[in-house]
Amino acid sequence: MFARELGNGAVLRPLEPWRAEELLEHMDRGREHVGRFIGLADAATDLDSARAWLQSYTDKAAADTARLHGIWLEGKLVGGVLFRVFDAEQGMCEAGCWLEPSATGRGLVTRAVRILVDWAVYERGMHRVEWRVASGNAASIAVARRLGMRRDAVLRAHYLHHGVRQDIEVWSVLAPEWRAAREKAS
Ligand SMILES: CC(C)(COP(=O)(O)OP(=O)(O)OC[C@H]1O[C@@H](n2cnc3c(N)ncnc32)[C@H](O)[C@@H]1OP(=O)(O)O)[C@@H](O)C(=O)NCCC(=O)NCCS
Repeated sequence: MFARELGNGAVLRPLEPWRAEELLEHMDRGREHVGRFIGLADAATDLDSARAWLQSYTDKAAADTARLHGIWLEGKLVGGVLFRVFDAEQGMCEAGCWLEPSATGRGLVTRAVRILVDWAVYERGMHRVEWRVASGNAASIAVARRLGMRRDAVLRAHYLHHGVRQDIEVWSVLAPEWRAAREKAS
């Protein structure tokens, strides 16, 4: 099975339906943290819903409209990164991420999303990678900044989460910007 090393004992690999039990255990460890700003924690609350959520991504990957990868640290599933939207025809995709609290603060998501964006830009010819984040989600905004994204806009009161309307910031990086930054870094 394909896996990419992230360093510090972490690997990135596809997160598939047969891993539903692992996903549920991981989500049970991090549900409150993961669900503070996003609906993922509500999508995997028991084995059936965890499996259905993973299956939906497997189906979308087969249709080339989304991708889902998990992050394992010392053999334990601790988070993931995804293309929630992947529109190859338009050359536009939207990336996202989550971690359980024990895995934060190590740069795992930043490194994992770099791998995803490299694939999107260099292998798939995507032109625009978006990052949508609640304006109060400072940790996720910091990831967008570390990735070299720019803030395009704020969608006011765009997303209703747990009964509260949130402003959503749209960040992005374009392929020429990504390539220039990667070449400068190498
Ligand atoms: C968003 C989220 C994944 C960010 O987690 P994170 O650990 O801050 O992100 P990273 O894995 O990229 O790690 C960055 C942190 O590791 C540190 N770090 C250590 N080594 C690093 C390295 N080699 N490279 C980059 N950062 C490194 C950074 O300084 C940063 O810590 P700081 O914020 O204290 O400065 C996490 O807060 C989360 O799961 N939130 C809940 C779900 C969510 O809201 N998802 C986003 C939806 S838009």
